[in-house]
Amino acid sequence: MNIQWDAEKYTADFGFVAQYGNDVVSLIDAPAGSSVLDLGCGSGALTNTLREKGYWVIGIDGSQEQLNIAQQSYPDIPFLQGDATDFTLPEPVDVVFSNAVFHWIDRKRQPDMLRCVHSALQKNGQFVFEMGGYQNNRIIHGALADIFQAHGYPYQIPFYFPSIGEYASLLEQAGFLVQYAHLFDRPTPLKGEDGMKDWIQMFLKTPLSIVPMEPEREEILDQAIEQMRPELYQDEQWIADYVRLRMKAIRL
Ligand code: BEZ
Repeated sequence: MNIQWDAEKYTADFGFVAQYGNDVVSLIDAPAGSSVLDLGCGSGALTNTLREKGYWVIGIDGSQEQLNIAQQSYPDIPFLQGDATDFTLPEPVDVVFSNAVFHWIDRKRQPDMLRCVHSALQKNGQFVFEMGGYQNNRIIHGALADIFQAHGYPYQIPFYFPSIGEYASLLEQAGFLVQYAHLFDRPTPLKGEDGMKDWIQMFLKTPLSIVPMEPEREEILDQAIEQMRPELYQDEQWIADYVRLRMKAIRL
């Protein structure tokens, strides 16, 4: 994954990530008692929602810091450290669920991740997930790219945001039948007057680290924020231009 988490700040300021995930949970169509893997469970909020629906749950995440929070909050749920592109389960599960994780995995590692999910599922098991979709945060990345360029630095988006067609094809190649796919805008309010700055500093550490020194890094950030303000600051509120890709596929 392309990030070092500040798990406590993430949970405090970006808890909306899990709240929006409740809609994704409702795509699961399985009786109580079914087994569900929450892949990239983070601090476990949605793993717990799944458990409250009567599923037998397990959470896997790459970040030990996030897992410590998860284990403290929900001591009865089994949480394991693992890499989404290289994991196995002792027993296959009925459902693999994931929210807001797969865009952190490079395009070239996606087939490895889908192979692991395929082996983790029973035949006819459900794979239900949401991730950043095609052109996610287009205005944010566009403004940063312009300002980086003006300062003489390259700007590389550190995420994978596929279209429906592209991801459906990867799923089919990995042995899944796509049953549902929806790509949609979800304008997302950010917290506080510095909401956009906080968001960029939380999620775009890798591109920002190209700029070697302050005060230039701060200057670039401020200029990019001013460029996006006319489109993304409304009624004294920052709104991030999220696009979601939500899918359900069956393991053949
Ligand atoms: C997303 O959930 O789409 C996302 C979150 C943080 C950074 C980039 C994308």
